[in-house]
Amino acid sequence: MDDVHRSLMTMPVVTMIGGGQLARMTHQSAIALGQCLRVLAASETDPAAQVSADTVIGSHDSLEDLRRAAQGANVVTFDHEGVPLEHLEALEADGVAVRPPSEALRFAQDKLAMRTRLRGLGLPVPDFADLSGDRVAAREALLGFGGRHGWNIVLKAVRGGYDGRGVWLLDDEAAALAVFDGIDDETVLMAEAKVAMRRELSALIARSPFGQGAAWPVVETIQRHGQCAVVLAPAPGLAPAVAERAQQMALRLADELGVVGVMAMELFETVDGALVVNELAMRPHNSGHWTMDGAVTSQFEQHLRAVLDYPLGATDPVAGPVVMANVLGAPQPPQMSMDERVHHLMARMPEAKIHLYGKGERPDRKIGHVNIVGAPDSSLEEVRERAERAATWLSTAIWNDGWEAHGE
Ligand SMILES: Nc1ncnc2c1ncn2[C@@H]1O[C@H](COP(=O)(O)OP(=O)(O)O)[C@@H](O)[C@H]1O
Ligand SMILES: [Mg+2]
Repeated sequence: MDDVHRSLMTMPVVTMIGGGQLARMTHQSAIALGQCLRVLAASETDPAAQVSADTVIGSHDSLEDLRRAAQGANVVTFDHEGVPLEHLEALEADGVAVRPPSEALRFAQDKLAMRTRLRGLGLPVPDFADLSGDRVAAREALLGFGGRHGWNIVLKAVRGGYDGRGVWLLDDEAAALAVFDGIDDETVLMAEAKVAMRRELSALIARSPFGQGAAWPVVETIQRHGQCAVVLAPAPGLAPAVAERAQQMALRLADELGVVGVMAMELFETVDGALVVNELAMRPHNSGHWTMDGAVTSQFEQHLRAVLDYPLGATDPVAGPVVMANVLGAPQPPQMSMDERVHHLMARMPEAKIHLYGKGERPDRKIGHVNIVGAPDSSLEEVRERAERAATWLSTAIWNDGWEAHGE
């Protein structure tokens, strides 16, 4: 064996299930830390498979493929919630270090189990109803629940939803029943009271098996078409006591559930200033992309540190306010190539930090994001304007302020 291989053998191999953008960005941190990130990807063109030299092509639904990907790795972790629970348990029975463990991850996979558990732990959650099981009884339950809440309700697929898919915000009985009656047989639904909110927040934390916890500043998330579009870090005007309460809730919950890795707790700030927990993600999260350029330790590095039980990194912001804006596929992809759009953006906004995921442009699909890190004295509004301008430009090849480069 040559000395390169001898030295590499002492460094960890982390298997990430799923080859999406989260795995792609985790790979960047793995490179810096001298680790190997192996990905189980559905295809060679998946965002992470394009960049990882150690890609296993297969399906997260196949135990055989999962075992192949786990072979020889120090730990197995995830870029999505889709792995069947029984497969996770089988891997654990094989002796694989699954992080976060199935015990914890099941609550991120199942919105009904999560709501039930959170309520059991005394955390603030919206009123909800279980619509699983017998359809006739569930329809009755929906009629009762909807009536009690003036049909200001939300229907959610218990499993498999993301980016607003599998979530229906409703305000009348007919629309709710249309969703319920139109759903396919495989989808299990639950109902929730619609929260009258001021805004949405996210408390991003990490926890290691040793039990160390770390929390980044609480951020505000702005959704469009049911998915996260913009993140303001830190959440502007959030009372320090409320921010600390959110961080404490997330850290305590992670401890209680035995979460390992990064966890995002999505929260609603109600119109009267109270916090209500929406959902949990036990992996790097869209609300933490700002940390790549705006915090001492990015969420991707931290996830690796946590799942490998290294000491966690500092979570302090590096400068002033940071705004992350997602680059979404335009309704009609622009004529101008992405590469040319990147050139123009770099020319006009040299401070913009561009992150592209290697994905095809489809309407509303997340294909990248831009971070703008403000100076300590910048106003959040001004930073946000620049971040949104940059992301809109990359999406559409249109400057949202009508600017045109002259002399071309
Ligand atoms: N109970 C609720 N009340 C009001 N808005 C909600 C509620 N639940 C979800 N939403 C809205 O729908 C979005 C997506 O719901 P969420 O459960 O987070 O699903 P996803 O898995 O798609 O992120 C939330 O970010 C929020 O804007
Ligand atoms: Mg969500």
